[in-house]
Amino acid sequence: MKIGLLGYGTVGKGVFDILEELNGLEVKYVLDLRELPELGEKLTHDLNVILSDPEVDTVVELIGGMNPAYDFVKKSLLAGKNVVTANKLMVSLHYGELVRLAAEKGVSFRYSASAGGGIPWLVNLQRAHRASRLELVYGIMNGTTNYILDSMTTLGEEFDAALAEAQKLGFAEADPSSDIDGLDTRHKTTLSANVAYGVVLDDEKVDAFGIRFAKKCDIDAAGEAGYALKLFGVARRCQEGIAAYVEPTLVPAETPEGNIHGCDNIIAFEGSYIGKTRFVGAGAGRYPTGYAVVQDLVDIDAGPGVLYNEKMDEAAVNNAAECHAYYVRTDATDDPFFVALEKKPFGAGFATEKVSVRQMHDFAARALAAGKEIFIAGFWN
Ligand code: HSE
Repeated sequence: MKIGLLGYGTVGKGVFDILEELNGLEVKYVLDLRELPELGEKLTHDLNVILSDPEVDTVVELIGGMNPAYDFVKKSLLAGKNVVTANKLMVSLHYGELVRLAAEKGVSFRYSASAGGGIPWLVNLQRAHRASRLELVYGIMNGTTNYILDSMTTLGEEFDAALAEAQKLGFAEADPSSDIDGLDTRHKTTLSANVAYGVVLDDEKVDAFGIRFAKKCDIDAAGEAGYALKLFGVARRCQEGIAAYVEPTLVPAETPEGNIHGCDNIIAFEGSYIGKTRFVGAGAGRYPTGYAVVQDLVDIDAGPGVLYNEKMDEAAVNNAAECHAYYVRTDATDDPFFVALEKKPFGAGFATEKVSVRQMHDFAARALAAGKEIFIAGFWN
């Protein structure tokens, strides 16, 4: 296999290093905007050099973000190259189109590193899907937010201090919005649902409420009642479509999910025959993520046509059917929905009766749009 590697950043360098130790998988080109003398003749600034070289059968996209990554991936597939990527934003928003294009061109398109980092998550989800009816996927899919919540819990820090520390240590980006607003988890949840259920979800319809507004008093309220506060992505099969959402979650402290520390992830699926299976490990980082990319390359090298799913049914995100109790701390107390809710005092806020994810996320969006303070967290049973 001869590879064109697009992007020589954190993960790109990790993939390059791992491949140097593997026989048979050769990086022929590295595309990067910078001058990188250590790459010698391999460096190119021109995608066409890679696409027009018949020796290159596989392109690895590790530029990240939507553009130019999306354009480069489409051009690579159209040129008949296999594509491996870790780009959860691009794949979750263009899943159907890219998978179909790869199938049409008879090439492989794999994105194992897009969810779970080094954890063999999507690849096992695919295996589970083909022999089991999966009903639920859920878990902690973002290391940055787990690090922040964990610091708030164990060190008693407020959100801003925990975020600043995570940034100082390189666990959070300078612009942390995608992580702390739950968008990174949303993309991973969408991809997990697509693979688990053989569907194409509209990523933008997946409700996401992140941890930006979490306070120490929320962590304390959870802890005093025997819960840990974690950011969950959830996708559950329901009668009409898939309930899919991201929200802070009060998870019983004694469960494995309640005991995931630092940047680790824990993700689980539940289905017929197999019950519940959990995966724990490094969800990010140069070498864990690079390892997942390399595993995709080895799979492709072993045989053509390795796609995640031939089946991609249309499926609606349906969060009206998914109901559970919530912890709510807000000053939007005059909202008619909140007034009518049965609730009792819980820490700095209230514990509500069971309501739908749809209603609660709509309420949170209304409150934020009105400039009110609000933090919500679902109770996990
Ligand atoms: N920012 C992501 C995380 C990186 O913290 O999990 C890996 O997807």
